[in-house]
Amino acid sequence: MKLPEDVIKRAEQNIEPFDTEGFVLGKGPVPAEIMMIGEAPGENEVYDGEPFTGRAGKELDKQLSYLGWTRDDVYITSVVRSRPYKWEKKSGGEEVRKANRKPNKKEVKAHAELLDVQIEEANPRVILLLGGVAYQRLIDEKGKISEVIGEKLETPLLRYDQDNDTYVKTERSYTVIPLYHPAAVFYNPSIRESIYESLDRLQSYL
Ligand code: URA
Repeated sequence: MKLPEDVIKRAEQNIEPFDTEGFVLGKGPVPAEIMMIGEAPGENEVYDGEPFTGRAGKELDKQLSYLGWTRDDVYITSVVRSRPYKWEKKSGGEEVRKANRKPNKKEVKAHAELLDVQIEEANPRVILLLGGVAYQRLIDEKGKISEVIGEKLETPLLRYDQDNDTYVKTERSYTVIPLYHPAAVFYNPSIRESIYESLDRLQSYL
């Protein structure tokens, strides 16, 4: 995807003050029939320069193949393009290492313009939100994704208004389906059945 250089540069500069590393833009066909928006890259993704190449990516691939899709059928990106990390002690020792963490609101804002431009450029027919960070960024700042998983929403998106430092609703509506983040099943294996139910529902809408 060709994006304006100044938008990328601003995103890179905006994220500099935070504990993040790398920059993963996204991957897939443009224009995209389907756009998937995750949270932020992790260690593997930053190393590979591609979204979802680590453990969550393997889970995502299983879900794509359940739907009969491949990565070439979807444009995949995330709310934040750099890997947010925290320093963590290795168990039992003094040695520290970088661990992945969820992006905070300031980091989300640092890359908000880039995501808005990227959605416009991809111009997808359907947007799939993978997890709560994407849902809160684009639909409802305080909302709970668990209440709308697998539902087909015809809804405006939240766009970042730089002049007023706030998010505003777009005039047009988009078709959006919130889904579990592929990594959610690692923390809560009991949701596996409802993940596949949500994919069945998704399949029935498309
Ligand atoms: N989680 C995401 O949201 N994106 C990735 O690329 C990897 C993990």
